[in-house]
Amino acid sequence: MDAPLLPHDRLPEHIAIIMDGNGRWAEARGLERNEGHREGLESVRSVVRAADEIGIGTLTLYAFSMENWNRPKGEVNALMGFLEQYLESEIDEVASRGTRVRAIGRLDRLPKSTRRAVEGAVERTRENRGMTLVFALSYGGRTEIVDAARALLRDAELGAIDPERLDEKTFASYLYAGDLRDPDLLIRTGAESRISNFLLWQIAYTEIYTSDLMWPDFRKSHLVSAILEYQTRERRYGLTSAQVRSPGSGLGGGR
Ligand code: IPE
Ligand code: IPE
Ligand code: MG
Repeated sequence: MDAPLLPHDRLPEHIAIIMDGNGRWAEARGLERNEGHREGLESVRSVVRAADEIGIGTLTLYAFSMENWNRPKGEVNALMGFLEQYLESEIDEVASRGTRVRAIGRLDRLPKSTRRAVEGAVERTRENRGMTLVFALSYGGRTEIVDAARALLRDAELGAIDPERLDEKTFASYLYAGDLRDPDLLIRTGAESRISNFLLWQIAYTEIYTSDLMWPDFRKSHLVSAILEYQTRERRYGLTSAQVRSPGSGLGGGR
């Protein structure tokens, strides 16, 4: 295996990716948009494998947003088909690597066959303890927050939760995958600098990296570049640089 030159002490534990630009990649080549989605699958294969080799703990891929349901029916169907194809063709390799597949989003809206493929992959890899691979599917960040609020209100009604004691940690536990840590690094391809309703709660302090590459052109070497850039960042979480560099130096103590 060609080991990338990555210092392992500051690897992002959780990487999330907004895989954007499939359509433009195809259009630039005079192809149908769906050809871009097909080629985008090759990038998914490459990046999933690379993330595991590098030692990333969790990789979350934004595969289909709530807003994407409003695309032309033919494109939605093609995307669902590609997703099923990916899961069916890769599940053996993914499972044998010890990867655990999870899914976040309104899975109830997916076509039956897609839902079955997703649930099959999740079920088959449930006991795996290697990398966690999360597919955000039929996913919207605002919907996720509203769904969490609804579940919380129900628990409050039942008396299982005291509104006075609600804190961020408890709220986060109601999210679709409330046990996952927040992403350390968010990558967006496709030359756009927006969040597009992805992981709104979870990215409060995530480092953002944007790439001008269209998703089908984004492969392992680009993932490595993103991680190297991440490793140069100083995550301050509201503190001063001096505080971050010498924790416990006595400069803190605001609370
Ligand atoms: C990302 O590529 C795939 C999905 C959103 C499902 P796009 O299909 O958004 O490609 P562009 O942004 O139109 O180029
Ligand atoms: C974001 O891409 C959603 C996914 C990558 C699944 P979009 O192409 O849907 O985002 P916008 O519409 O450009 O913001
Ligand atoms: Mg797009």
